[in-house]
Amino acid sequence: PIEKRIDDLLKRMTLEEKILQTNQWTYGKNANENNIESIQKGVRAEIGSLIYRSISPVYRNQIMRKAMEESRLGIPILMGFDVIHGYRTVYPIPLAQACSWNTDLVTKACAVAAKESRLSGVDWTFAPMVDVARDPRWGRVAEGFGEDPYANSVFCVASVNGYQGKNLSDPFSIAACLKHYIGYSLSEGGRDYHSSDVSAQTLWETFMPPFHAGVKAGAATLMSAFNDISGVPASANHYTLTEILKERWKHDGFVVSDWGSVENLIAQGFAKDRKESGLKSFLSGVEMDMVDNVYVENLAQLVQEKKIPESKIDDAVRRILRLKFRLGLFDNPYVQELSEKDRYYQPESMAVAQQMAEESMVLLKNNNQTLPFSNDIKQIALIGPMVKDSINMMGSWEGQGVATAVETIFEGFSKEFSGKATINYAKGSEFDGTDESGFAAAVQMSQKSDVVVLCMGEMKKWSGENTSRSSIGLPAIQHKLLAELKKTGKKIILVLSNGRPVELGDMESLSDAILEIWQPGIAGGTPLAGLVSGRLNPSGKLAITFPLVTGQIPIYYSMRQPARPKIGGYKDVSNEPKYWFGHGLSYTNFSYGTVKLSSNTINKKSKLVAEVEVTNTGTRTGKEIAFWYISDPVASITRPMKELKYFEKLELKAGEKKTFKFEIDPERDLSFPDSNGMMRLESGDFYVTINDQRLKFELTE
Ligand code: IFM
Repeated sequence: PIEKRIDDLLKRMTLEEKILQTNQWTYGKNANENNIESIQKGVRAEIGSLIYRSISPVYRNQIMRKAMEESRLGIPILMGFDVIHGYRTVYPIPLAQACSWNTDLVTKACAVAAKESRLSGVDWTFAPMVDVARDPRWGRVAEGFGEDPYANSVFCVASVNGYQGKNLSDPFSIAACLKHYIGYSLSEGGRDYHSSDVSAQTLWETFMPPFHAGVKAGAATLMSAFNDISGVPASANHYTLTEILKERWKHDGFVVSDWGSVENLIAQGFAKDRKESGLKSFLSGVEMDMVDNVYVENLAQLVQEKKIPESKIDDAVRRILRLKFRLGLFDNPYVQELSEKDRYYQPESMAVAQQMAEESMVLLKNNNQTLPFSNDIKQIALIGPMVKDSINMMGSWEGQGVATAVETIFEGFSKEFSGKATINYAKGSEFDGTDESGFAAAVQMSQKSDVVVLCMGEMKKWSGENTSRSSIGLPAIQHKLLAELKKTGKKIILVLSNGRPVELGDMESLSDAILEIWQPGIAGGTPLAGLVSGRLNPSGKLAITFPLVTGQIPIYYSMRQPARPKIGGYKDVSNEPKYWFGHGLSYTNFSYGTVKLSSNTINKKSKLVAEVEVTNTGTRTGKEIAFWYISDPVASITRPMKELKYFEKLELKAGEKKTFKFEIDPERDLSFPDSNGMMRLESGDFYVTINDQRLKFELTE
């Protein structure tokens, strides 16, 4: 029936009305001529989509009423917004979420974000970002799920399921948008908005899998990226947008350009003017134009000149209307008008925020069991620019988050240690700059304390869109403050809050323990304090490698085998990063038994089970994440040294044993794409690796 209703509308729509559907407007900070006032006045009530920046359902309903009651055909407007890690209840940044390796939790977080969004007037989020990101100079690493294609695929599906729910028409579902299609994270040198030289092999092996997984999971839309792909802009790329996405993968939703990426074709040297950029983007398969008005100004003329067939306009409009129907907007265009109190910070949302923050924090170093604190600790020096911070703790793209809702580290520690230890606070320094006037007070507080907890890292504006950095080290003032405090002889626990892996330099050796808390959102203080006190046990593991020095980038666990592994590489620094992907410590110990394989040989139609018994040999409950990797040492296209194929996170009580199991499906786990995206499954030897055990098996025909 949806397709019939679309047919009926298409028959009645004028060309101008159709083209209006392909455009997205915005208002506010980046207002263009089609601002909100004109919508309210009834001008162009027939717009396709609006970036909806208000939090008011009342306002949304007013705008929607214009469209429903005053436009000729009563077509609802699709309201989109960047809901990246929560709407008002802000969760840890996606990179942190990935370090939890808890897909259910990611789904729950996205479902809460969807509910808060929908209740505030938003139908569509520009998320998840599933750009596999291996260059931490690129500020947008914060917004994705790290360096691994499989991890990005799994978290992509978890997010889509959370946002879209079981059915897009459910009252609290919103449409997802997989972005940025495609190759954006390979922007040269990590410089944002630059060109990406993506080989066809890398495109298929690294970048396509998460998008394909998201499409299979039913993601309603995709966003075309700013970069070009080996010379053809991603927002005008017929191969990726039409031949792959629509023809091969049969995606029946639509593609929206990134902000101005249609017009950007001119700057990229791919179109001579706006008209040509519109022509190229539209014909390549970008159905909706985000905010630059190129389509609305040029498509009608291009149709008249027969450069664009009207059937192609109809196809684009059909895809857009299809989503509006699937979301139920035609039949239920208005949202409930609940108070903010009834929309945000509900107990279940807050519980997810706490748990997500806890599980995403990664204990990077813990010399001589510095953590957790023993009962002898009575005075805690809590130092650093992050201690009383609330804005930076939210990270970039904080949606509609407000700083006043953020629980600071100071508040978390004060609650956690109330009646048990005294908190001696000093800021010490700012995040950046040269002002050392706060050092003396910080030293004094440290001297009178049993231990120093030093909280620093990156400001929120240092990561996210257009925040590339040529060096991923922290500013000199932070290093200096740490060095000063070290002179007191007290143990130093370094708490890092940042949106990318950072180059630690001497901070690593000067610290006794390091806890990476990322940008935890509104609920960082209590989980962090709980981990420090030992009420909680860290379980996060890195979803992205921490380079030793910036010059090692790119460095990621799944690099290819070098030609001369023993003698190649750097002569001035190690070839090892500071912390590999997968690194993360616990307060308990997990001991792995011997891995068992159900057979040493399988054929292409059978399955192999690998399993290992893991024992919690420590004295407290903990969660262990087991990573199963596959290596294919000889193939017709060289393969990464190892590739993550499965992971599982299980809680084990002290003394408890559990079995981690991985069922190897040859087609899914042993095949690889060629440069056309065709899968190859080649017989021969393979290895399965878990922890430090590597077992060989053979795949026969
Ligand atoms: O969704 C974003 C995108 O990730 C970057 N440019 C702007 C878009 C809309 O805000």
